[in-house]
Amino acid sequence: MRKIFIAGNWKMVNGAPAEAVALAKEVVNASGSQDNVEVAICPPATAIAAVCEATQGTNVQVGGQNLYPAENGAFTGEISPTFLLAVGCSHVILGHSERRTIFKESDAFINEKVKVALAHGLTPILCCGETDQEREQGVTEKVVETQIRGGLGGLRPDDVTKLVIAYEPVWAIGTGKTATPEDAQSVHAFIRTLLRDLTNDAVADGLRIQYGGSVKPDNAKELLSQPDIDGALVGGASLKADSFGAIIDAGK
Ligand code: 13P
Repeated sequence: MRKIFIAGNWKMVNGAPAEAVALAKEVVNASGSQDNVEVAICPPATAIAAVCEATQGTNVQVGGQNLYPAENGAFTGEISPTFLLAVGCSHVILGHSERRTIFKESDAFINEKVKVALAHGLTPILCCGETDQEREQGVTEKVVETQIRGGLGGLRPDDVTKLVIAYEPVWAIGTGKTATPEDAQSVHAFIRTLLRDLTNDAVADGLRIQYGGSVKPDNAKELLSQPDIDGALVGGASLKADSFGAIIDAGK
C-alpha cells in the first residue's frame, strides 16, 4: 500500500523567512494529524532554515527545490546537498520542467543530482513531463521514458526505491489546465510499467508517483483516487494553507 504524498512547491514565492514561517505554521495547522498522508513543503532557499525550525517536531517535512551535485567549492550561487541537510531538509525537487527549460538542465545533469541527493540521504522528487506540442505529436510516453531513463541512469533498484517521481505535464503547470484523471492515470501506469522494466516488481509497486499541474482542492480527490496516482506536487494551490490543507484532506 503506497502512502499518499502531498508536496508543495512554493517556487520563487515566500522567500522572506518571516512570511515563509507564517505560511509553514498555517500548513502545520491545516494538515492536522495526517497519519495516512505524508506532507512536505519546499520553500525558496532563503527561507528553508527558518521553515525547518518552525516545522520541527511536526508531520510537515521540508525539501529544497534544487541542488548542485557537489559538496562545496567554486560554484557561485549554488546550493549543495550538505547545506540542505544541515538546515533540516529531507527532500529535494530535481528536474522540474522550469529548470529543464529555463536553465537548460539535461537528463545527464539531473542524473548527477539524483545520485548525489541519494548519496546524502535526501529523497529526490524527480520530475518529468511533456510539453503541449509533444502531447499533440503523440510522443508523451517517449518523452517521459527518456527523462526517467536518463534521470535514473546507473542507479540500482535499491536506490530507485528511495525516490519519488512526479509526473507534471508542462502544459498543465500554472495554466489551470489539469490533465483529466484518466489521461494522468494512463501516463502514471506507463511510468510504473517502465519502472518494472528498469528495476523489479517490488520497487515498481512501492514507488510513489505524484501528479503535478494545476492541482486544486476541487480536482484533487478525483486525481488521487486513480490507482497509480500516489500524491500531488502542488504549485499555486500550496501557497494558501486552506487550499493546500484541502488537497491534503483529499488524500486522506
Ligand atoms: P501549479 O500547481 O501551479 O500548476 O504548479 C505545479 C508545479 O509546477 C509543481 O511543481
